[in-house]
Amino acid sequence: MQSRLLLLRASGDHGGAASRRVRLLLRQVLPGRPGGDRQRPEVRLLHAGADAGDTVNIGDVSYKLKTPKNPELVPQNYISDFLAQSVVQHLRWIMQKDLLGQDVFLIGPPGPLRRSIAMQYLELTKREVEYIALSRDTTETDLKQRREIRAGTAFYIDQCAVRAATEGRTLVLEGLEKAERNVLPVLNNLLENREMQLEDGRFLMSAERYDKLLQDHTKTELDAWKIVRVSENFRVIALGLPVPRYSGNPLDPPLRSRFQARDIYYLPFKDQIKLLYSVGANVSAEKVSQLLSFATTLCSQESSTLGLPDFPLDSLPDAVQILDSFPMMSIKHAIQWLYPYTILLGHEGKMAVEGVLKRFELQDSESSLLPKEIVRVERRTENHVSQAFVTIRIAEKEMTIKVPAGTRPLRQPCASDRFIQTLSHKQLQAEMMQSHMVKDICLIGGKGCGKTVIAKNFADTLGYNIEPIMLYQDMTARDLLQQRYTLPNGDTAWRSSPLVNAALDGKLVLLDGIHRVNAGTLAVLQRLIHDRELSLYDGSRLLREDRYMRLKEELQMSDEQLQKRSIFPIHPSFRIIALAEPPVIGSTTQQWLGPEFLTMFFFHYMKPLVKSEEIQVIKEMVPNIPQEALDKLLSFTHKLRETQDPTAQSLAASLSTRQLLRISRRLSQYPNESLHSAVTKACLSRFLPSLARIALEKNLADASIEISTNDNVEPELKDYKCEITSGSLRIGAVSAPIYNAHEKMKVPDVLFYDNIQHMIVMEDMLKDFLLGEHLLLLGVGKNKIVDRFLHLLNRPREYIQLHRDTTVQTLTLQPSVKDGLIVYEDSPLVKAVKLGHVLVVDEADKAPTNVTCILKTLVENGEMILADGRRIVANSTNVNGRENVVVIHPDFRMIVLANRPGFPFLGNDFFGTLGDYFSSQMLRQYGANVPEPILQKACACLWRINTFKNYKREFPTEGLSSVVRNGDCLSINTLHKIRYLCGSQKPTSVSWQERGENCDG
Ligand SMILES: Nc1ncnc2c1ncn2[C@@H]1O[C@H](COP(=O)(O)OP(=O)(O)OP(=O)(O)O)[C@@H](O)[C@H]1O
Ligand SMILES: [Mg+2]
Repeated sequence: MQSRLLLLRASGDHGGAASRRVRLLLRQVLPGRPGGDRQRPEVRLLHAGADAGDTVNIGDVSYKLKTPKNPELVPQNYISDFLAQSVVQHLRWIMQKDLLGQDVFLIGPPGPLRRSIAMQYLELTKREVEYIALSRDTTETDLKQRREIRAGTAFYIDQCAVRAATEGRTLVLEGLEKAERNVLPVLNNLLENREMQLEDGRFLMSAERYDKLLQDHTKTELDAWKIVRVSENFRVIALGLPVPRYSGNPLDPPLRSRFQARDIYYLPFKDQIKLLYSVGANVSAEKVSQLLSFATTLCSQESSTLGLPDFPLDSLPDAVQILDSFPMMSIKHAIQWLYPYTILLGHEGKMAVEGVLKRFELQDSESSLLPKEIVRVERRTENHVSQAFVTIRIAEKEMTIKVPAGTRPLRQPCASDRFIQTLSHKQLQAEMMQSHMVKDICLIGGKGCGKTVIAKNFADTLGYNIEPIMLYQDMTARDLLQQRYTLPNGDTAWRSSPLVNAALDGKLVLLDGIHRVNAGTLAVLQRLIHDRELSLYDGSRLLREDRYMRLKEELQMSDEQLQKRSIFPIHPSFRIIALAEPPVIGSTTQQWLGPEFLTMFFFHYMKPLVKSEEIQVIKEMVPNIPQEALDKLLSFTHKLRETQDPTAQSLAASLSTRQLLRISRRLSQYPNESLHSAVTKACLSRFLPSLARIALEKNLADASIEISTNDNVEPELKDYKCEITSGSLRIGAVSAPIYNAHEKMKVPDVLFYDNIQHMIVMEDMLKDFLLGEHLLLLGVGKNKIVDRFLHLLNRPREYIQLHRDTTVQTLTLQPSVKDGLIVYEDSPLVKAVKLGHVLVVDEADKAPTNVTCILKTLVENGEMILADGRRIVANSTNVNGRENVVVIHPDFRMIVLANRPGFPFLGNDFFGTLGDYFSSQMLRQYGANVPEPILQKACACLWRINTFKNYKREFPTEGLSSVVRNGDCLSINTLHKIRYLCGSQKPTSVSWQERGENCDG
C-alpha cells in the first residue's frame, strides 16, 4: 500500500520575493513565523490507496475506507494540490463527527468554500454523494418521493434523501436558509431516528432496529411489511449561511438541533496568501498582500456594521490569475470587477471603500494601466477543445491570452453592420475578454444602453453560438433547469431547459435580466457557476469536464456507459454572461446584488455612452439623419441624463439609446417630421404627471426643440384622406402597398367613421409599420383603430387577450380535445409568426410580467422558446440543422394594446418594463368635440353615482378636473353617453348604473 502525503509543503517559499513591508504585515497577522505555528501542531493528511481495508488519516483521526457500490457517485478532483491547514482542520472535524455517526452543518459566509470542503471530505473517504441545492421552490417531493407515470401506471420514484438513506450515501443539502419553512421538517425524523414513512407505503427504519427485528423475523417478512433498512453509512452534510446577517429563512430550532454545526469562515490570511502567491507568481508579492488585506478588511465585522456587503474573497484567486497575465494592470480597477462598489453603494459606502483602498495604497488611477482593445483573435484547437488566442493591447503593449471559444468561425474585432464600436466599447470588450479567461461575467448597464448587442458581438468574436434566456421575476428553479411535461401516451417526463442544453453543447448563455429573479431561485445556479456541476430533477448529473474525464478513467467506462448512468460532462467552452440593470441605491427593497451574488460573477459596468460616442453610434447606424436634429436631440438627452433631479432622470430613462435610434430612423425616413413630437411621443408626454410634463416642455424649449408651426395648425380635412388606388393605400402623406392576404376571413372589418385624429394616428402607425417596428398603442379606442388599420391594409389578424392568469404556456400553445385526447395546437402567436400575420395583443398590462417579458424576447431577439420545446428564430440561417424550429415570417408584426400607466388603471406597469421595445402611439381622448362644461357636468354626475354606490374606483374630487381634461379616463361607452346627453335626450338613471360606472379597463 502506498500512501500519498498531500500536505507536506512548508510555507514561506515566497519569502525571498516579498518585500520588507509584506513581511512586517505577515508578522502582524500570523502568530509566530509564517509556517512555524507552534501552538497548533500541523495536521497531516495521509491518503490511502483505493483497495478496501485501507485507511485515511487526518492527524490522529483515522477512517477505514469502504469500497463504494456506485463509484460514479463519488466526487472526483475536488482535493486541490494546495490544501490549506485550516481546511485540513475542518476535514478532521467532519471525520470525527462522521465516525460518531453524527450529521453536520457547515455554516459560514457566501461562497463555494463550504461545498468544496464537504466534497473534499467525501472524495477523501470515497463516499457516494446525493446532492440537492435547496431553493424556495423545493418541495417535499423533491426530497422524498415523486410520482411518475410510466405506461399508464403511477410509480413513486425515490428522491435524494430516500436514496441516500437506503443506499448509505451522504446527502448534501445546500442552502438550508433558502428552503421555505416547513419543507425541511419533513426530514426531522430521518435525521433524528433514521425513520421515515414514505408515500408508497414503505417505512424506512434505522439499521439497529431493523437488525434487531431480523433476529425474530425473516427478511421476507420484513419485506412484506414494507420495512426498509436505513444504511448505517447514511449521513447528512448541510450547508448554509448564518441568518440573520445574511438574508434567508431562519432555521427551525428542532431541525438545527439535529446537526453538529461548524463555522466555516473564510480561509485565514496565512492560507489565502499562500494560495494567491501560488496562482500569481508574476504579480508582486506586495501587491497581492495589499489586495488581500483590502479584501479581508471588507469582510470584517466593522465593514458589515457599515452596511458594506462582504467582499467575495473566494474570487480573489481568479482575479490574481488575471493580474498574473497582466501584471501592469491597475489593481483598483480589477477590484471593481469583483466588487463593483461604485454602482453598489451609496455615497457613504463608496467613501468607506475608497478609504480602505487608500489605506492599503491601492489608489492608482492611471488609465494607461487599463486594457485598450482586442487586437486580434486566433483559433487554437487542442484535444478537440475550441480555444482562442486573444491579443489585447494594454499600456502600449500587446499581451496574448488563451480563452475558451465556440465552434463557429472567429470574427476579428471590427465594427459590423449591427454593432458600432466606440473607444469605450472596445475597452469594455477587452476587459470582458480578460474576465472570460477565468470566470462568468455579469454585465450591468441601464435599460437599452446596448448590453445585448455588445454581448452578442463578444460571442461573435469568439465564435460562440448564443442561447438568450429571458429571466423574469417569478421564475422558478424548474423554469431554469428542467420542466415536467407529459408524453402523448400520458407518461410524465422531464425536458431540460435551454440553459442545461447550452451547458452540454458549450454555448454562451445570455441570462438576460438577472436582476429580476428572486435570489432564492438563483441559488440553484450557484453550483453550476462556481463548480460547473449540476444535479437535475430527473436524476442526471452534469460534471465539470476534468472531473468527468477523471471518472471515466478511474472507472474504465465509455461515454455511453456513463450516459446510461445519467452522467454527462459540461462542455469546457460553456460560459454565462448575465445581463442586469444597475442596482437602485437606497431603495427600500432588498437589492439583487447581494453578497451571495457577488461570489458568482465578475462584474462589468457599461457606462451610459458619452455624447460624442452616442452620436457616433447613431450616425453610423442611421447615416441619413439630419445633422441639426441629431445635435439637438443629443444635447437635450444628455442634459437630462446629467441633471440629478429625479423628474429629469425619469424622463431621461425614456430616452435610451434604443429610443434615440428609433427617433433617428423616423427622422431620416421622414425628415419633415418635427423633433418635438418625436420626443414627446417617446416620453409619452400625454400620460406624464403635470409636473413632469412641464419639466419636459421646459427642457425642450431650452434645447430649442420647438413645436413646429404645422403641429399647431389643425390639419385640413382634405389633407387627411385615406384612399386606396391601384393596390396601394394612402393615409395622409404616406402610402403603402395593400397586402395580398391569403386568409381573407382573418382580415378584420369594422364599422368605423373616419375622423382626422384617427387618421393622423393611422398615418403614424403606417410610418412605423413601414420602418418595420412593432407597435404599442395606449389610450382609448385602441381596438377599433387597429382593426380599421388592418382592414385598410388588408392584413390578416391574430388576436390574443391577456389576463391575470395568462401563462407562457397558454400564450404559445392552445390545448383542445380531439377524440378524447388533449392535443396542442399552435396559439395565435405562433400562427402569426409562421404565417406573417399581425398579432394583436390586447390588455397587455393585465398579464403577469413574465408573460410580457416573453413578448420582449420575441421583439428584441427574434428568438423565443415555446412551451412544447420548439423554438422561434428570426433568421433562417440560424436554423443550422436544429429541429423544431419555427422561422419568423418577414411580414410578422405585433401590435400591443395597453392602458396608459397610472391612476385609475389597475394594470401592471407594462410601459415601465416594455415601453422601450415598441414604438408607441398615444390615442387622444375620444370626446374631444364635446363641449367642456357638459363634459364636466357629466363627470360630476358620474362621480356622484360612484360615491353613492360606494364603488371602489371613485374619482377623487380634486382629480376630477384632470379626469375631465384627460378624457381618456372615461370609457367609450360613457363618452357615447355624454354625446347622447349633448343631443338633449337624457338617459335614465338605471342605464347609468348599469353601464356608466365603467372606467375603461
Ligand atoms: N454600439 C452599438 N451599435 C449598434 N447599435 C447599438 C449600439 N448600442 C446600442 N445599439 C442599439 O440600441 C438598442 C438597444 O441595445 P440593446 O438591446 O443591446 O440594449 P440592452 O442594454 O440590452 O437593453 P435592455 O436593457 O432593454 O435589454 C438596440 O436596438 C441596438 O441595436
Ligand atoms: Mg437586452
